[in-house]
Amino acid sequence: MEHRQRQPPLPVPRDDPLYLTMPVQMVVSDAGTHLVFHDNSWAGRVTLREGVEGAGSGHDRPGTSEVRVDGGPLRCWVMVGTPARVLQAWSGLTGAPAVPPSWALGPQHARWGFGSEREVRRIVAGYRERGLPLSVLHLDIDHFDAHRVFTVDRERFPDLPGLAKELREDGVRLVSIVDPAVAAVPGNAVFDAGTAVGTSGAFVRDARGRTVRGEVWPGECVYPDFTDPQVRAWWGGLYEERLAQGFSGVWHDMNEPVSFAAFGEPTLPRSSRHALEGRGGDHREAHNVYGLAMARAGYEGLLRLRPDERPFLFSRSGWAGMQRYGGTWSGDVATGWPGLRASLALVLGLGLCGVPYSGPDVGGFDGSPSPELYLRWFQLGAYLPLFRTHAAIDAGRREPWEFGPRVLDGAREVLGERERLRPYWVTLAHLARLTGAPYVRPLWWAAPGDRALRECEDAFLLGDALLVAPVLEPGVEERSVRLPAGRWYDTVSGAVYEGPGQVVVGAPLSRVPVLARAGAVIPVRGAGGGLELEVWAPAEGAVNGRRPPGR
Ligand code: NOJ
Repeated sequence: MEHRQRQPPLPVPRDDPLYLTMPVQMVVSDAGTHLVFHDNSWAGRVTLREGVEGAGSGHDRPGTSEVRVDGGPLRCWVMVGTPARVLQAWSGLTGAPAVPPSWALGPQHARWGFGSEREVRRIVAGYRERGLPLSVLHLDIDHFDAHRVFTVDRERFPDLPGLAKELREDGVRLVSIVDPAVAAVPGNAVFDAGTAVGTSGAFVRDARGRTVRGEVWPGECVYPDFTDPQVRAWWGGLYEERLAQGFSGVWHDMNEPVSFAAFGEPTLPRSSRHALEGRGGDHREAHNVYGLAMARAGYEGLLRLRPDERPFLFSRSGWAGMQRYGGTWSGDVATGWPGLRASLALVLGLGLCGVPYSGPDVGGFDGSPSPELYLRWFQLGAYLPLFRTHAAIDAGRREPWEFGPRVLDGAREVLGERERLRPYWVTLAHLARLTGAPYVRPLWWAAPGDRALRECEDAFLLGDALLVAPVLEPGVEERSVRLPAGRWYDTVSGAVYEGPGQVVVGAPLSRVPVLARAGAVIPVRGAGGGLELEVWAPAEGAVNGRRPPGR
C-alpha cells in the first residue's frame, strides 16, 4: 500500500511496494474464510506479524495485521463465507470482471524493441513457419514517434493499418502500449488538446496552479488527471487514433504513475492536486487509484468507440475494482527461478483480490533465461489467463525457437494444448463475470478446511476441472502433488489417483503435469476446429464427481 520506489533492480519475490495496490486481506483458516477490504486509497503501510510458533499451523498461527493510512476514512468491508461466496460478494461490491475477447485468451507475444514492420512480420512468420499458434502481438513504445503516446514513427512503421489488416487476416491481433505521461511540447497534438480541456486543462497541477512536470520516455511530461470525469472523457476519445491504426486492444503501462527521479519518490509529488471526482484532494489519496481511473477512461472510451466489441485492456497499476475494466500483469518480473515461482503466486493472489485476468512476462523481463527455465515458464504461462512472452529491450530473445529443438517441441506441445482448451478458457471468463470466481484458483478453493492444501503454493486449479502442477525448480523429472478429495486422472497417462493425499507424477521437461477431476466435462476445440466436450468418467457411485460419504 505504499508508494512505489524507483525500479532497477527488478523486483523479486517479497519485494514491496509493487506496481499495484489491492487493499484486500483474505483469511483462510480452520475457523472459516473472510475477506476484509480496507476501503481507503491513501498512502499507507500494512504490517503482518506472525503469531507464536507451535500455536496452530502455518496460516492458522494466530497473528496480527496492522493497517496504517495517512488520511481518509476508516472504512472496512468484511465478507464471510466459503471462498466462492466471499469472491461473489467481492465482485458484487466492486464490480463483475470484464470478459476479455476470445482472442485475448490465446497465446501472445511481446517485446520492448520491435523496431520495424519488417521485424514484426519476421516474428509472426517465425510462428507460422513452425506451425505455432499466435493470437496477439504487442507493440511497445518503440513504434511511437519520439516515444510520444498516440503517435506512430512513420519511418519504421509506414503503414500500421495495412500491417494490422494483414496480420488479422492471418489470425493475429495487434495490441498497443499506452502510457499516461504526455510530452510537454507545444505542437505535440495530445499536449495541445489536453491543455485546452475544460477551464484549466487536463493535466495535474500543483497547489499554486502550475502543471506538475515529470520525466518519462519522451522527456519532460505532464500527467492527465484521470480522477476528473471530463479528463477521462477526453482521454477515452483519443483511443480512436489507436483503433484507426488497426490496434484491437491496449496495454496501459507506467501508470503508477512513474516519473524518473534522481532521488525521492519516482512518481508525482504528494502535494499534487487532483479532482477526485469533484471533491478535490492531493496525490496522497489519488496515487493508488490513478491506474484504476486511467483504466476506466480507456475502457469507457473503447466501448463508446466500438459499442459492439468487448474492450481489451490490461494495466500495470490498479486498485480494488480494477477487474471491471480489464486485467493486469506482473510488470518487470526478474528472470530466474524465484521470478517463475512469484509468477504463480501473483496470479493466484490477484485472482483472490477479484482480478481474474493476469499473467507474467513469460521467460522473465531481463537477461536470458536458460532453455530449461524458459520452457518451464512457458509451460506455466500456458495455464495462466494472460499467456504472453515479453522482455526488455536489452534482454535476450524470447521466441520459442531460440532455445533449441527440445524447447521448441515442448513449447509447440503446450501451445497446442492452450488452443485446444480455448473454449474452456472462454467458459471460465464468463463464469468469472457471473460469479466472481477466478479462473486460476488455489488448491484449497473448494476445501478451505484442508490444512495440507492451505500450505500448498506450487500447484493450482484451473476452474473446477483441472489441477495444474507446474515445475518451478530446475533439474526435475517428477514432482509430488497434493490432491484435493476425489478421483483424479493424469491427463496424459490416464493414471488414476484418489485424493485427498500426496502423489508423485512424472514431470519430464517435455510436459507440465495436469490432472482432470473425475466427473469433469471440459469444453475443448476438436481436431476439426469444432466444439467438443471432453468427459472424465465419474468415480463409481459418485455424485457430481465426488463420492458420497459412507460408500
Ligand atoms: C515498463 C513495462 O513494465 C515493460 O513491460 C515495458 O516493456 C517498458 N516499460 C517499456 O515500455
